[in-house]
Amino acid sequence: MNSLRINPGRLRADFDALAEIGATGDGGVHRPALGEAHLAARAWLRERIAAAGLELRVDAAGNHSAFLACGPAGAPTLLLGSHLDSVPHGGRFDGALGVLAALEVLRVVQEAHVSLPVHLEAVDFTDEEGTLVGELGSAALAGTLTAEVLRSPRGGRAALEAGLARAGLTEAGLLAARREPAALAGYLELHIEQGPRLVQAQATIGVVTTIVGLCSYRLTFAGQAGHAGTTPMADRRDAALGASAFTLAARQVVLEDFPGCVANVGEMRFAPGAFNIVPAQVAVALEFRAPEVETLDRLEAALLDRARAAAGQFGLGLEVVPLGKTDPTPMSEAAQRAVAEAAGALGLTHVALASGAVHDAQALAAVCPAGMVFVPSVGGASHTPREFTPWADCVNGANVLLQAALRRGGKEETRKRGDEETRR
Ligand code: GLV
Ligand code: MN
Ligand code: MN
Repeated sequence: MNSLRINPGRLRADFDALAEIGATGDGGVHRPALGEAHLAARAWLRERIAAAGLELRVDAAGNHSAFLACGPAGAPTLLLGSHLDSVPHGGRFDGALGVLAALEVLRVVQEAHVSLPVHLEAVDFTDEEGTLVGELGSAALAGTLTAEVLRSPRGGRAALEAGLARAGLTEAGLLAARREPAALAGYLELHIEQGPRLVQAQATIGVVTTIVGLCSYRLTFAGQAGHAGTTPMADRRDAALGASAFTLAARQVVLEDFPGCVANVGEMRFAPGAFNIVPAQVAVALEFRAPEVETLDRLEAALLDRARAAAGQFGLGLEVVPLGKTDPTPMSEAAQRAVAEAAGALGLTHVALASGAVHDAQALAAVCPAGMVFVPSVGGASHTPREFTPWADCVNGANVLLQAALRRGGKEETRKRGDEETRR
């Protein structure tokens, strides 16, 4: 089994075909979760799964998977996967590479007639990116999704309801999509790094040690609408001033007191929103991340403090709506070992690193040993059409995923099937 490799041409053909779905014309894709392009990508995936002669499974959370019964009856399943949804105007590698590499691993194992102590499943998880909720399908599968999160989703209720209706999904289904943890042997995900560290380290493969924690809020600064030409500057209760002061203060507090953390104001919605009206309300989309639970909690308190101070400074009201929190999550030691060993066996340089992006592996880690393989991102660019990973690195990553999966799933079997392997 050590000699098994993915088929680079077949993986490339899939990758290029998928990148056409929702293509933005500048190398990127626009496939927000459960939108038309995302659903078209899933229809395409269903065809690819059928063409591979693999079993298609779609669960009540809309997670799509290819299943290969390569283990004994009743054996647990090793999940491999990622997501086909993208951020708005995102890149074509984020998520897509992991799903297609997972599918390719199943095809290779099927063709080689390899028997493992586990079954294999290549999964495309619903809404990893959080345009609706974030890690929606993986949390549903892990059984950690709550009704409360669905009541107050990060992308707004209307968007969630519209997406679910479009995809024929229901909230009840999402909340019932939990899989029995005993049936899960583990989870492995190949992903682009989305940052500059692998390139800086001149390493081909990243062995992910831990995934950053993330918290999001909608903060609404509330003042009073007025005539932009006649209201004296000193008399205004301008909601934009609170939102702006907060944005600058957030940057400052992270830079000064929270090394290794980040905060982002990704959107400001002005109401009523006109050239000649003093803004009555500004709704701020705030997200922040930290590598340890305790730091994430302290950062949360510090940022809410700055928001209240900014509102107070300009005589504004402040509405604070929490929109979800994911704790920092270490990857399984065994999975890290399998990835490092696989990279070593393939003669690829590898380094251990933490992930600053969130991933479905985080949700899966709650119920089974989870691990991740990273490949380099040129310029560290991601969540933009500039996102790029040289194809040779993608192939290397897919081979590491394959070999790590065989190690995670098939240690004993490797020994037992030694004869057959030399024949191959
Ligand atoms: C997902 O890619 C995230 O980290 O936002
Ligand atoms: Mn991703
Ligand atoms: Mn992403």
